[in-house]
Amino acid sequence: MDRLWRNARLATMTGSGLGIIENGAIGCRDSRIAFVGAEAEAPGAEEVIDCAGRWITPGLIDCHTHLVYAGSRAREFEKRLEGASYEEIARAGGGIASTMEATRSASEADLIALALPWLDALIAEGVTTIEVKSGYGLTTEDELKMLRAARALGERRDVRVRTTLLGAHALPPEYKEDADGYVALVCEEMIPAAAANGLADAVDAFCEGIGFTPGQTRRVFEAAAAHDLPVKLHAEQLSNLSGAALAAEFGALSADHLEYLDDGGVAAMAKAGTVATLLPGAFYFMRETQLPPIGALREAGVPIALATDSNPGTSPLTSLLLVLNMGATLFRLTVEECLIGATRNAALALGLGGEAGTLEVGKACDLAIWDVEHPAELVYRIGFNPLHSRIRAGR
Ligand code: NIG
Ligand code: FE
Repeated sequence: MDRLWRNARLATMTGSGLGIIENGAIGCRDSRIAFVGAEAEAPGAEEVIDCAGRWITPGLIDCHTHLVYAGSRAREFEKRLEGASYEEIARAGGGIASTMEATRSASEADLIALALPWLDALIAEGVTTIEVKSGYGLTTEDELKMLRAARALGERRDVRVRTTLLGAHALPPEYKEDADGYVALVCEEMIPAAAANGLADAVDAFCEGIGFTPGQTRRVFEAAAAHDLPVKLHAEQLSNLSGAALAAEFGALSADHLEYLDDGGVAAMAKAGTVATLLPGAFYFMRETQLPPIGALREAGVPIALATDSNPGTSPLTSLLLVLNMGATLFRLTVEECLIGATRNAALALGLGGEAGTLEVGKACDLAIWDVEHPAELVYRIGFNPLHSRIRAGR
């Protein structure tokens, strides 16, 4: 083996709980995990690192972000403090449309430069994989520009980036009277172009009163399927349009937000193996009071993931550790559910179940090493970062 981390406590995220191994070690060969287990059984390695009893988890995974965009929505935040609602602002041409204008005016290099400090904040907390969505360009050219910027982040930093085309995020002003025409553009131009250029790993949409109808979302999903791209969905965030059930019908990797999810949606997701990605940052920032149906999701065995939803409008948040705390305090998830939600289940939500999210032989050697006495501290503390070191692909 190339490298061995010894004298560690491991939370492998395998099995039913955290998959704890005391007195553990992890070995790496050619950037992949080659040994996980008791230190006494570990083979030799060229380089041996003494972890001094620290905890090792899989590198964290932020499986839902809108990290690439330009412009600020701080003034819109002020308006909301004065009483304007998110939907009112959106309908008055602000919200996503204002970020769209700034993003259209930005170059690919601008977008990369703006996103890097936010990405660095996530990386500083042990994040080794992020998903980044487009959705603020809303022309084919600007959506591809966003996706290229997102991909470039993975070249500027040692982080795995998965990109998602979110062309059906909002109706751009030039299509104000022609929503179906815009959906046709998404289906007939954006999705084919993103697929042909290898720029998207998945396709997402915003199925909502201020977004797209279930019928329009279905057309987007059909186009994604025609290009062999898996789908995800912003579903049941502000109201219940049965978006999650529609996503499940297309075998979606995940349905996200889900505050207004009903029993039918839960059952459909369970049957399809669709991950429920919960976004407590948006719940908090929007002062939402309707909780996602955690008990029903649990009972049905739907895998739950947690993510930042980092975006300028509803979750200007770049701390996945804070999301873990919010998952527990706001959604009453257990410590195990929170930690699994930002590792194993987050990997599933990105179609990376075989590659990341647990400490298992054969997976990429993406590790977070923590100065904590127990993994519960990662969920418990607020605004403190106990990361000791971060290993991506064995380095
Ligand atoms: O995940 N729901 C739609 N999209 C984002 C918000 C986008 C914005 O307001 O800029 C979300 O909450
Ligand atoms: Fe989102």
